[in-house]
Amino acid sequence: MMWENKTVIVTGSTKGIGRGIAEAFAKAGANLVLNGRQNEAPDLLASFAAYKGQVIYVPGNVQHLEDAKRIIKEGMNAFGQIDVLVNNAGITQDTLLLRMKEEQFEQVIDVNLTGSFRMIQQVTPILMKQRFGTIINIASVIGEVGNVGQANYAASKAGMIGLTKSVAKELASRQITCNAIAPGFIETDMTEAMNDRMKETIQDQIPLKRLGSPEDVAKVALFLAEHRYITGQVINVDGGMVMQG
Ligand code: NAI
Repeated sequence: MMWENKTVIVTGSTKGIGRGIAEAFAKAGANLVLNGRQNEAPDLLASFAAYKGQVIYVPGNVQHLEDAKRIIKEGMNAFGQIDVLVNNAGITQDTLLLRMKEEQFEQVIDVNLTGSFRMIQQVTPILMKQRFGTIINIASVIGEVGNVGQANYAASKAGMIGLTKSVAKELASRQITCNAIAPGFIETDMTEAMNDRMKETIQDQIPLKRLGSPEDVAKVALFLAEHRYITGQVINVDGGMVMQG
């Protein structure tokens, strides 16, 4: 597929997996709408300057409907069309169930799940008019198998999988596809926050015995955006973790 003159929005793309996904599309020639909560990566635009496509940065919090609207509007103003939305912005607030405050549960759901819903709902009229488009939701293997200390996160990611399948069914007749990627443990700031013992324990649970990279996830995002006959699927990029249950 030719990516020139196509537009890709990636939420939470100042670092980590989102940035890796944005780079993969930019390398392929697409125009990019980058996003993060605020101006948190001063070097960001400069680091994309080498790529063919044009890149804009729109700060915004996916917890706010107005921000979701603005991210899409600024993308349309700059490039005139939206071809791919990647819902990648996400947070964790890990703690055991009995200690988890309702706010901690709700905040993780609000960013990861409701944030994705807000973005999808805002972009859908544009994709429907175009009769073309792809939505990719970055879920997690934890949404499929659960995890101690991550009831909020697992619920949000399981919710994203249900959202993905429903959106895929609703929009299929317009040739709009919607898929989820379920990464396992990927080397980013999110996993860097874990101590060495935790990391070792985790590596033991991964059949491939190593963490993945943002590029591993990005390759699959590009693949899903290019394949027009795959929809409603969850693709695990987890070194085999989902098989362990
Ligand atoms: P990260 O912490 O390195 O980056 C998160 C990005 O999201 C940042 O750009 C941040 O600004 C943005 N963000 C956070 N809250 C936001 C909000 N309310 N509005 C807009 N942007 C916001 O995280 P990482 O590891 O790159 O994770 C990215 C996605 O991948 C998340 O959805 C995460 O749940 C998912 N994931 C990560 C895994 C990992 O092992 N790192 C494994 C499975 C899924």
